[in-house]
Amino acid sequence: MLFEVLYVSQLSPHVALHAVGDIARQCRVFNKAKNITGILIFDGSRFCEQLEGNEADVLQLMQTIRQDPRHTGVHVLHQGALDKRRFCRFSMGYTMVDEQALDALSVLTGHDALRTFSALVPHLDLDS
Ligand SMILES: Cc1cc2nc3c(=O)[nH]c(=O)nc-3n(C[C@H](O)[C@H](O)[C@H](O)COP(=O)(O)O)c2cc1C
Repeated sequence: MLFEVLYVSQLSPHVALHAVGDIARQCRVFNKAKNITGILIFDGSRFCEQLEGNEADVLQLMQTIRQDPRHTGVHVLHQGALDKRRFCRFSMGYTMVDEQALDALSVLTGHDALRTFSALVPHLDLDS
């Protein structure tokens, strides 16, 4: 079954900003191998990531991501079944946004959160 997760988190204080590019590159390689697609957004201090793929693979990856010390406060805004992929072009699209862009999103849940996330995407200059 296709499954998706949308979460927000905070860059850990001890992690340098340039490490975020390494995270994005690492994601792309792993996600391609697991047929997981999605988009990672970073605003200078917060992450927001949508992941989609086989349910077991996505849930297993979420467990790994939760334990990653490079960020803290992983908070799932939405998770659930998906009819078809939202971002099939991206093994992991990565982009930076300005600091306000994630403010509204991080206090939403469920389909409201997904809608706000999806509305951001057409404006993003994604590096797939
Ligand atoms: C904000 C954030 C998002 C991440 N997203 C992914 C991802 O989409 N795919 C992925 O493979 N790893 C992602 N990672 C990295 C994983 O936490 C982990 O380091 C990586 O999967 C390698 O796991 P391993 O050391 O168990 O092999 C992310 C890390 C952070 C901090």
